[in-house]
Amino acid sequence: MGNKFYVPGEQRSGKVNDLFAAIAPRYDLINDLQSFGVHRLWKRRLIGLAELRPGERLLDLCCGTGDVALAGARQGVRVCGLDFSGPMLAVARQRGVASGLSQSPEWLRGDALRLPFGDATFAAVTISYGLRNLADLDAGLREMLRVLQPGGRLLVLDFGKPANRVLRAFYFRYLRWFVPVFGRCFCGDSETHAYIYESLLHYPEAAALAEMMRRAGASAVRVLPLVGGCMSIHLATKR
Ligand SMILES: C[S@@+](CC[C@H](N)C(=O)[O-])C[C@H]1O[C@@H](n2cnc3c(N)ncnc32)[C@H](O)[C@@H]1O
Repeated sequence: MGNKFYVPGEQRSGKVNDLFAAIAPRYDLINDLQSFGVHRLWKRRLIGLAELRPGERLLDLCCGTGDVALAGARQGVRVCGLDFSGPMLAVARQRGVASGLSQSPEWLRGDALRLPFGDATFAAVTISYGLRNLADLDAGLREMLRVLQPGGRLLVLDFGKPANRVLRAFYFRYLRWFVPVFGRCFCGDSETHAYIYESLLHYPEAAALAEMMRRAGASAVRVLPLVGGCMSIHLATKR
């Protein structure tokens, strides 16, 4: 069927950028509606699993409108939220100001595939609903591990593919037929949210992603399925 925002190859990043520019003002609202608000719990879980300690630095990649970066900052650590979408970062900046945090995250515009940081800069790297959007997953994972300190934690939250066939069929139908309605109603284009299903089809199963993380240099990789694998958190440490 195809989707105008999912274009493999050289145009992939540009199309993803177009997508998030189009949906940025409604991104948070639609997230709440399509997940029945539960994405907030999953993100809280992600930050809890990062086991952040005072004085550590956290990099939240593909930070979007800032949910995870702000949750990290609330733990009292220094956070950098990086994204390549100006409109998504603009929302994150506003939310940072409104949060009243004494140490709001630093917001940086940049490409997750070419991080503007030296090796071993961060104690933890999180990426929530971001990895699936990268043009090159292997290169993205290698970059994340490069900027992590030895023993640092890498945490990936994203959509998953439930092993249970009945659940998978139901869930995929929800993503394919229902979620695009949010795009049509709030962004005037069903393809903005049909993109989720399309990009998930091209995203690896949980076990295959764990193997990619190991190949990129991660150790102690664990997978935490959420809602029967509809979502998953991959946790790992840098060797
Ligand atoms: C689905 S949103 C996730 C936002 C946020 N992390 C969350 O969980 O709500 C994906 C984000 O990834 C960003 N993104 C995609 N590819 C990127 C890349 N190569 N470099 C930086 N940001 C990227 C998009 O701009 C978008 O803001």
